[in-house]
Amino acid sequence: MDKILVTGGAGFIGSHVVDLLIEQEKEVIVVDNMSTGSYKNLNKDAKLEETDITDNLGLNEVFNKHKDINGVVHLAAQSKVGPSVENPGTDANINIQGTINLLELCRKNNINSFVYASSAAVYGHAEQLPITENAETNPLSPYGVSKLAGEEYVKAYGRLYGMDVFALRFANVFGPRQSPHTEAGVISIFIEQLLRGEVPAIYGDGEQTRDFIFVRDVAAAVVLCLKHINEHSQQPIYNVSTGTETSINFLLKDLCNALNENFNPEYKEERPGDIKKSYLDNRKIMAKLRWAPEVSLSTGLLSTIKFYQG
Ligand SMILES: NC(=O)c1ccc[n+]([C@@H]2O[C@H](COP(=O)([O-])OP(=O)(O)OC[C@H]3O[C@@H](n4cnc5c(N)ncnc54)[C@H](O)[C@@H]3O)[C@@H](O)[C@H]2O)c1
Repeated sequence: MDKILVTGGAGFIGSHVVDLLIEQEKEVIVVDNMSTGSYKNLNKDAKLEETDITDNLGLNEVFNKHKDINGVVHLAAQSKVGPSVENPGTDANINIQGTINLLELCRKNNINSFVYASSAAVYGHAEQLPITENAETNPLSPYGVSKLAGEEYVKAYGRLYGMDVFALRFANVFGPRQSPHTEAGVISIFIEQLLRGEVPAIYGDGEQTRDFIFVRDVAAAVVLCLKHINEHSQQPIYNVSTGTETSINFLLKDLCNALNENFNPEYKEERPGDIKKSYLDNRKIMAKLRWAPEVSLSTGLLSTIKFYQG
């Protein structure tokens, strides 16, 4: 597979996917409206088409211009919970209609391979940990709902048109280029606060857990899916995670150690609706795709700190 279109390729995760594809000598077309993406993130060897995924005419032009695309990686999204609660219609338009637009263009242009970025947000409060792909989906926000709806369209296109599809449910992704202005990026938020000499705030007792996965490992999983096309289309859903839980207290302590700072957070009232414990079972992707996370939390933290110091 030689020419890949990546939506959201100027964003946090997308830019790492693009870097990896280019390292593997693929030609990469990036579709991005630059709403949260950045020109600085974008690999200089990628071709940027500055288009919105909700703009069907604009997207059509991109697909007409690049006739020989072999696969699509779809990462562009409204990716925050808060704005999805405030404007569920806008969230649905980008995350659901935008996904349909891309699937339709793939169908019309005989592009058979589609990798979709989903999220642990589709699970909501889980009954059992670690959360497997078979767990019930009970999203707590319009964002979780729109990500889940996107998955269902992706699966339906797989069934209807024999497209080779993957929907990857990412855990909490961290690493260089993550914006500290997003609610998901607790690690980048802590690092920025510590570097500015501010006291980091922890909501609740800090014993809530998350599954933090380094962005480069996520990019590797995405790129691997493009190679496994034709093999696993009956099982398109995969968790992409470390399979381990880390408490916010432990995380901050690790960061403080790395930065030689005192561990002295300000504890604030727990936020309503915050999930207490969450980590995702990654045995399916490890067994079926032979993928494994390679970067430990502390190595990933050091690389992220270096990025913010730079
Ligand atoms: N970061 C995480 O921890 C995480 C976890 C689970 C799932 N995800 C999913 O991974 C994907 C990438 O997330 P991210 O953290 O890199 O976010 P990001 O905001 O850094 O990247 C999204 C990119 O999409 C672009 N974009 C947004 N709306 C667009 C539109 N309408 N048309 C064209 N481009 C548009 C943005 O400019 C940006 O470059 C998203 O689909 C998100 O839902 C992220």
